[in-house]
Amino acid sequence: MRRPFIAGNWKMNTHRAEAIALAEGVVKAAAGVDGVDLAVCPPSCYLDAVGKALAGSKVLLGAQNMYFEKDGAFTGELSAAMLRDLGCTYVILGHSERRHILGETDALINKKVHAALAAGLIPILCVGELLAEREAGQTMSVIRRQFDGSLAGLSADQLKTVVIAYEPVWAIGTGKVATPQQAEEVHLALRKLIAERYNAAVADVVRIQYGGSVKPSNAADLLKQADIDGALVGGASLKADQFLGIVAGAL
Ligand code: PGA
Repeated sequence: MRRPFIAGNWKMNTHRAEAIALAEGVVKAAAGVDGVDLAVCPPSCYLDAVGKALAGSKVLLGAQNMYFEKDGAFTGELSAAMLRDLGCTYVILGHSERRHILGETDALINKKVHAALAAGLIPILCVGELLAEREAGQTMSVIRRQFDGSLAGLSADQLKTVVIAYEPVWAIGTGKVATPQQAEEVHLALRKLIAERYNAAVADVVRIQYGGSVKPSNAADLLKQADIDGALVGGASLKADQFLGIVAGAL
C-alpha cells in the first residue's frame, strides 16, 4: 500500500516570524495524525528557521528548488548538499511556475533530479498541462514528454523513491480544481506509463500527488481515488488548520 503524502508548498510567501508560527501550528495540529507522511516547503531563506520549528516532529522539511551543480560560481543558487545540510528531506523540482515563469526545461529539471537523488534528497517532480493543451486533447502527450524528459536515466530503484505531483496548470492558484475523475484519469495513465517504461512493481509503489486548488472541502474526494496518493498544496498550506483539514481527507 502506498502511504499518503501531503506536502505544503508555501511558494514565495510568509516572512520569518510568520513562517515559524505556521510551522509550529502545523506541528501542533499534526501531532495526533498517523498513517500520512507530511512535509512543508518554505522559502529557502527560512528553511533553517522552519527546520528548527519542525525538529522532533513528524513533519519533514522540503525545499522548493535547487541547482544541479555541486558548488562553484552559480550566483543565487543552492546545491542539493546545502539543502541536506539544512535538514531537507524533499525538494520540489519542475514546478509549473518554474517551468512557465522561470523557463525551466525538462533537460534542466532532469539534471536537478539526478543531483537531488545523488545527494539523498527525495524529488517531488511536478508535471502538468496548460489549459490550451488540455483543450487541444494533448494532456497525456504533455505528461509523457515531461515524464520522459524530467526523469530520463533513472534506475527503477531511483524512480521508486521519487514522488510525482500531477498539477494541471489551469488548476494552480485558480480555485478551479480538477474533478476527482479528471485527476484520477491522468494519475492512472501516469501509473500505466511507469509500468510501460519500467514495470508493474515500480508503478505500484511510486506515489503520485495531485496539486491544484486542493482545499479541505475537496481533498477527501480527490484522495479517495485509487491512484491519487496525496496532495501538493499551495494556497491552503499557508493556514495550519486548512492544511490539516486536507490531511484529514487522507485518513
Ligand atoms: P495551489 O498550488 O494549491 O495554490 O493551487 C498548488 C501548487 O502549485 O503546488
